[in-house]
Amino acid sequence: MCGIIGYVGQKNAPDIVIDGLKKLEYRGYDSWGISIKKAKSLVITKKVGKISDFHDSDSLPKGSIAMGHTRWATNGPVTQDNAHPHTCCTGMISVVHNGIIENFQSLRKELAHHTFTSDTDTEIVAHLIEDNYKAGMDLQGAVRMALKRLEGRFAIVAMSSEYDEVVAAKKGSPLVIGVADDGYYVASDIPAFLDHTNEVIFMEDGDVARLASDLTFTDFEGTDISRQSKPISWSVEQAGLDGHPHYMIKEILEQRHTIKEAVSHSDAKILKVADMINKAKGTFFIGCGTAGKVGMVSSYMFSTIAKKHVNDVVGSEFPNYHDFLTPETLLICISQSGETADTLEAIEVAKKKGCKIVSIVNVMGSTMMRMSDEYILCNSGPEKAVCSTKATTAQMAILALLAYACAGRFEEGKRVLSRVASSIDVMLDENYLDEIQFLSKKVAGYESMYIIGRSQNYPMALEGAIKMQEVPYIHAEGFAGGELKHGPIALIQNGTPCIALVANDAVKTEILINALEIRSRGGYIIGIAPEDNDIFDFWIPVPDLGIASPIANIIPIQLMSYYTALEKNCDPDKPRNLAKSVTVK
Ligand code: G6P
Repeated sequence: MCGIIGYVGQKNAPDIVIDGLKKLEYRGYDSWGISIKKAKSLVITKKVGKISDFHDSDSLPKGSIAMGHTRWATNGPVTQDNAHPHTCCTGMISVVHNGIIENFQSLRKELAHHTFTSDTDTEIVAHLIEDNYKAGMDLQGAVRMALKRLEGRFAIVAMSSEYDEVVAAKKGSPLVIGVADDGYYVASDIPAFLDHTNEVIFMEDGDVARLASDLTFTDFEGTDISRQSKPISWSVEQAGLDGHPHYMIKEILEQRHTIKEAVSHSDAKILKVADMINKAKGTFFIGCGTAGKVGMVSSYMFSTIAKKHVNDVVGSEFPNYHDFLTPETLLICISQSGETADTLEAIEVAKKKGCKIVSIVNVMGSTMMRMSDEYILCNSGPEKAVCSTKATTAQMAILALLAYACAGRFEEGKRVLSRVASSIDVMLDENYLDEIQFLSKKVAGYESMYIIGRSQNYPMALEGAIKMQEVPYIHAEGFAGGELKHGPIALIQNGTPCIALVANDAVKTEILINALEIRSRGGYIIGIAPEDNDIFDFWIPVPDLGIASPIANIIPIQLMSYYTALEKNCDPDKPRNLAKSVTVK
């Protein structure tokens, strides 16, 4: 949610910033801007629209210091004035920001002597720095003093026309520094500068970094601190399109191998987390959006495989449970980015009660990972499309393996997951894609569709609906098969596409009957199932995976979401109004 990049070094900074913003566009894409230091002034360019549509870097001044921002609007509508960077009254200080400054209204009243040109909370920071600057502080000191006035979550990068440096600070929102021979980079996420270096420093909350001819760190009080860089294993190829037209299809197809990589952890790691779950008195699975649905499906897997009751709660609702938390409570936090504000807040609430935290995250070094007592990485490589695909199935695979480990059936779990991985690899062949693309042409003609599932496939019905909403903008809803007759069946009209998620499990007969109920009212039944059935108007085969069936069953819906979006001329990687990393509550 908003992407930031800054650079100080020997290369042409504007080129690096524009290129980096294009790689961060998944974090927000309604407007963008860049601030370039040219002699003793800052040259600022801001535009409404996607940075990927900008191909005129040559029109920008050259320079060795610059920073940029790609926006997902929170405070104030999408306008050029509201795009970042924001400046102080004189234009000598510019600021980019990711997060929310919660006390911005009171600060804005206090700063009424300044001229405001935007509706944003960010502009406050530029004016606060300006006042501190006028009081005689240097840029770093002025930024530090300004930060102390801010409440909320933020990552901030600031420049001044008078200093050959960039100052970056964070509390709550992510910032990572890239260290290279040519200079220093700071960005919201590693892919922004991965072309230049894989030597990184994950900034901690309360850090202030000064990027100049050298790199130094202090805390918000100004005390020097030391931070060491370390290499990250992500490659440029992993972060790029690798010949695919969109990240979404690239990432869907990567599931041919990512499930296997997801469960490639040491036995000791998995068994340690399983032991934490077994010893906990009260386990909560927490996630938001798609990751929340992974938590839900995992609660079914834990019931069935480990005979263990766990609670699944979406991050934003978790604070309601604070009365039930004790030091023996365990939170399993599920997140691709490891930066989702609502999940981070759940962790903060739980930590105050002394609970233990385990995170299942994809982004190494993320805030969530660092706040956790233990973590398991998804090993999926960078996920760039806004909607989550490969990280979702990786998370489900890890949680299924944990359920087996909790049940004392770890070796069996490894065999099951190995079969899941290889059968998905076989499933995703060219013919399979063609069939779903063909079906998507029909689906694209409808405004609404419904998805039904039972037991562990009920959460996948909900997740499938998210996929059809967020990418091709179809009004899709997921239901538990048994709930149809309590209302939703009234929505079925002649030809309405309805997906039935069927597995060879204890509820197979019931879900087929529910599909028949829909068909009898004119619905067009798309069966996602290991075997064909007369009830289906269209059959999408999936491997017969029993309790692990949700891992395979969601993949054809991911594909349908992608191809339907193409049919409707929607951008699959950057759906309207959404952002990949939701760093605001
Ligand atoms: C956003 C994304 C979703 C994602 C959710 C949680 O809404 O668009 O795809 O599931 O955030 O993100 P996380 O990084 O915590 O998995």
